[in-house]
Order: sequence, then structure tokens, then C-alpha cells
Amino acid sequence: MFEMSQTIDLAVIGGSGLYRFPGLENATRQRVDTPFGQASGDVVVGDFAGRRIAFLARHGESHTLPPHRVNYRANLWALHHLGARTVIGVNAVGGIRHDMGPRTIVVPDQVIDYTHGRYTSFCDVEGAEVRHIDFSEPYTASLRMALIDAATQAGIAVIDGGCYGATQGPRLETRAEIARMKRDGCDLVGMTGMPEAALARELEIGYACLALVANFAAGCGDEAEISIEEIFAHLAAATAAVPPILAELLK
Ligand code: HPA
Repeated sequence: MFEMSQTIDLAVIGGSGLYRFPGLENATRQRVDTPFGQASGDVVVGDFAGRRIAFLARHGESHTLPPHRVNYRANLWALHHLGARTVIGVNAVGGIRHDMGPRTIVVPDQVIDYTHGRYTSFCDVEGAEVRHIDFSEPYTASLRMALIDAATQAGIAVIDGGCYGATQGPRLETRAEIARMKRDGCDLVGMTGMPEAALARELEIGYACLALVANFAAGCGDEAEISIEEIFAHLAAATAAVPPILAELLK
């Protein structure tokens, strides 16, 4: 078991396909004013598996924010302000590695950031002290392990480790881009993993990613094109595994 904060035991940032946390009881909505502007929406705080959970839909509850317009700083700041010290980012991804096909769940251990033009640091403010955080291990190792143990306890298969390549979106990638990412060592591709992980580290929040594979990335599967309908169908199936994994994590 990892150490939890008193006020909020666990915060969950839901990605595509996860806009509400199923089974959250006694829920209240919290609008947090942040120095970085508006978060993606209200933080919903409630009880789940006997613990206090804070949930935030990364793209907004109606999926109106594309990945490059998500206010990652406001989101992390709001969760930290409410007392969250442990965050699980749930992210839809494309699979690059052959064993990371649709509906696979991965707990990545590395990141390569290909995004641009996003605010990547809380230091990116006039007069703020510049800090250079260690990011050799972009995810909190103890939380990653706890997540993998929880999945095992819940009887849900997850892959331990993999490199998450963060792209700008909102379009999917070209085959050449994915081929380059594969050569770089990426196993997964998604649009929202960064700067979220780095901002969590700046705030000294424990952070791990639960990556839900929605499709094979461009050129990695048999299809000539990637169907958005299929992406959402696979995501719905993989998303069903999230609450049981987190219920075990909270035990
Ligand atoms: N690329 C980037 N992000 C994604 C993908 C993809 O193929 N699938 C789901 N999120």
C-alpha cells in the first residue's frame, strides 16, 4: 500500500471515454480558482470503495477540450489544492508494440515528449523561481507497482512498463511518424500524457498512468485506416476495468 493524503485518498484524471467516475457516492462538485486559469471542469469529490476520491475529466465532461488546449497546470494545481497527493492519469493510447493491441492495459514507465506549444512548467510565469526537477523516472515507481499489484488482485491483465510517446494531436499520426517513434523506442502513443506527468512531479504529487489501448497506432495493425468508432468501442471495453483496479488499489 502506498501512502495516501488525509483529505483526498486518490485523484483520477479521466481521459477519452471516462468522463464520470462510476460508483462515486455522496459526490459534490468543486470549482477551484487557480492562478493558471480554469481547470477542465469541476472536480467531483466523492466516496468510492470506502475512500475519498477526486475525479476530473481531462477533456471536460462533454469532451470539448482537445489535448493541446487542456489546461494541465490548472488541473494539477486544482487537485493538489483540494488535498490530492496521489494521482492516476487514465489515458487513451494507440499501441505501437505488437503485444499492445486494442483493449490492452499498460502501466508505462517511460515517456518521450513530442508535444509543443504547451505550458510545461509551473515556473513558466514571470518572476517565478526556476526549478529543474529530476525526471529520469517520469512516473512514481511505488504507485506504478501498487497499480500493477491491484490489477493482479482484481484479475485484470496489465503490461508492466513501456514507453509512452506524447504527440500533439488532435489528429492521429502518420505511418512515418509512428515508424520514427518506434525507432525512438516508443511502445505507445497518446496525446495527453505530457506535460501532465511533469507537472505532477513539480508539485511532488505521486503520479502513474493507466494507459488504455484503443487501437493499433498508424501502420502497426492490419487496417489501412484507423476508425474512430472502433477507438471508442475498444475504449469503452478497456475503461470498464478501471474501477475494479482502483478499488483494489484503495484497499
Ligand atoms: N495516437 C495518438 N493518440 C491516441 C491514439 C493514437 O493512435 N489512439 C488513442 N489515442
